[in-house]
Formats: sequence, structure tokens, C-alpha cells
Amino acid sequence: EKVIQIALLGAGTVGSGVVKVLEMNRRQITERVGAPIQLKTVLVRTLGKARPELASYQVTDKIEDILNDEEIDVVVELMGGIHPAREYMLRAMEAGKSVVTANKDVVAQFGKDMFDMAERQDVDFLFEASVGGGIPIITPLKQCLTANKVTEIMGIVNGTTNYMLTKMTECGSDYNTVLKEAQEKGYAEANPSADVDGLDAARKAAILASLAFNTRVELKDVSVEGITKITPADIDYAKNLGYVIKLLAVGKDSPEHGVDVRVHPVFLPEDHPLASVNGVFNAIFVRGNAIGEAMFYGQGAGSLPTASAVVSDIIDVSRDILHHTFGRVRCTCYEKKKLCPLKE
Ligand code: NDP
Ligand code: HSE
Repeated sequence: EKVIQIALLGAGTVGSGVVKVLEMNRRQITERVGAPIQLKTVLVRTLGKARPELASYQVTDKIEDILNDEEIDVVVELMGGIHPAREYMLRAMEAGKSVVTANKDVVAQFGKDMFDMAERQDVDFLFEASVGGGIPIITPLKQCLTANKVTEIMGIVNGTTNYMLTKMTECGSDYNTVLKEAQEKGYAEANPSADVDGLDAARKAAILASLAFNTRVELKDVSVEGITKITPADIDYAKNLGYVIKLLAVGKDSPEHGVDVRVHPVFLPEDHPLASVNGVFNAIFVRGNAIGEAMFYGQGAGSLPTASAVVSDIIDVSRDILHHTFGRVRCTCYEKKKLCPLKE
């Protein structure tokens, strides 16, 4: 019987969640795939750290131990950042291994290289966890909503800043204290300026807009403003007027203006559906010309919610390996459409 062998690159917040979900749901995962999934090797940066959760697995700090291991079918990249994550993923696909990642930096900037390599090598490249943590949104946009012309995609796509704004609004907490809390909970990026400056949300907005509008939106095409300039006075002012402040990602595709994608703080009326999306929760609203409006809601960051999305991708890839059905759903967002004239 075939056993699907996988390797993890990274065993931090998300990586350790993936180990936990694979162990916790082993039986049902095997049933769903039709074969067992075996975690074989884990790549980390610092070998000396105590990692009792990895006691049953091979732990290494050398990528060659994974890339040269012909038994490994799937490489799951959970290190973050562009370098060396991008090179490792390309090399894994070159070696005939499918790749699963949660890395929005690489997908937003180098998605096309990844899709091209996956196509050339006839392997899978899946990235459900790159946007919205545990919320299914990439697969719906790639598969379930493709009958539509999507004209708008909008939402709260960064858990750290939504957690911070919620605590600052509800408890009057101080900016630095809530940022530290979000970091301790494992929500923030390694460099949290990516969260508070709006870059993480902009990367996600670029990915979502590319898939929704079937075009190629790059990070540089997204106007970005983060939450660093928001003061307690702004929050009080909003509250007194019946509003809340949220960091929104907004993408629109219109015949007059083309594709326009932005990330910035917004005053939302308290009765707006996104105003009650609080804490680490994210929500993404999609408008299509057949479905009308659809909303996706759930935990946008954190160990187990994100692992839920990563492990579902591992399950999908494993099925493709067993049935030789790689690349069932290719990303077609390769060609740039007209952008909003202000951005050209
Ligand atoms: P962490 O910082 O918690 O973990 C990173 C892991 O990668 C660590 O185990 C680290 O090793 C390892 N690592 C980092 N650089 C290298 C390297 N050069 N070589 C080998 N190993 C390396 O990150 P997260 O788990 O929070 O995030 C991982 C990815 O998931 C990122 O792309 C992030 O954007 C994305 N993501 C995160 C979410 C979250 O809620 N945290 C949600 C959705 C996506 P060591 O342990 O030795 O330091
Ligand atoms: N730092 C990110 C966030 C992790 O807070 O949303 C999830 O992508």
C-alpha cells in the first residue's frame, strides 16, 4: 500500500499546528485520502531548540536531506519570507515533489513562477492558507465561483491588526500592548511591521484580486496604508459617531476603471456586517454576477485554524498523487488586465 510521505519546512506556529492536526485526525485523514500520510522530515533553522512534539520525526537543518529524499512526495513550506522559501519550493518542484505553502509573500510576488514550475513538472502547488488563515477562500475563488464575473472582493484579511483594533476599541488597550499580545498568540508575522503597515493585507489582496478577476495583480499595484497612524482619539471619535475603524482590503473590477486594489483603514457604521468581525477573525465578501453576494468568515490566523487549511491542501495533493490527477485546477491568472488608470 502506498504511503504518502511529506516533509515540513518550518515548525513554528503553523508547522507545529500541522503536526498536531495530522496526529489528531490521522484516522479520518487516511480514510479520506485512501492511504496514510506520513510526516517523515522537518526542516528547522535552529537544531538545538527543544521540540518534544517532533520526537517521532527526523529533524534537520539541511534542505538537501529533503530535496534528495526520493521517498518524499510533498514538501510543505511554513518558514515564511521570500528567501530561501521561494528557492526551496522551486527546487522541490524541480525534484518532482508537489508543494503546499502558507506563504503569501511568495505567492503575491512570485506566484507566476510557482504556477509555471508546477505546470512544467506536472505537480501540484497549493496555497489555501496564504489568505484568511483557516477560512476556505482560495479554493472557492479557483473552483466554486469561476462561473461568475466577479466585480468586487472586499474584507478584513489581517488577524493581527483586527485583533489590535478590536482590543483598542473594546478595552481601550494601548497599541504596543495589543501588538505584543498578538505576537504572543502567534498571529503576527516574524516582522510585525508587515501586519501593522498593511503589507500582509496587501499581499493577500493581490492574491485574492488575481484569482477573483482572473488577472495578475502584483504587490506594487496595491495602494497600501496600515494602522500605525490610528490614535486612541480616532477610535473614540469613531465610537462617538456610531462607527468602528477596520483595516479593509478592497478590490474592484469595473469596465470604466479596470482593476483597482487597495488596503486602508475605514470608518464602518456599527451595523455594517464587517463591523462585528472582531479579534483574530477575518471576513471576505465576494460579489459575482451569478451568485450575488457571498461572505466567508472564520479565524484568520493562529496555529490550528491555519493548519486546517494547510492539511486540507496536503489531503488534496495526496489524492492527486494516488490518482495521478495533478493540476486539476490550474491558476489562470497570468495575464495582466487593465489596471485602474490612477495606478498606471
Ligand atoms: P514561525 O516564525 O512561527 O515559524 C517559522 C519556522 O520556520 C520555524 O520553525 C523556523 O525555525 C523555520 N525557519 C525559518 N527560516 C528558516 C530557514 N531559513 N531554514 C530553515 N527553517 C527556517 O512562523 P509561522 O508559523 O507563524 O508562519 C509560517 C508561514 O505561515 C509564514 O509564511 C506566515 O506568513 C504564514 N502564515 C502564518 C499564520 C499564523 O497565524 N502565524 C497564518 C497564515 C499564514 P526555528 O524553529 O528553528 O526558528
Ligand atoms: N500575520 C497574519 C495575520 C497571519 O495576522 O493575519 C495570517 O496570515
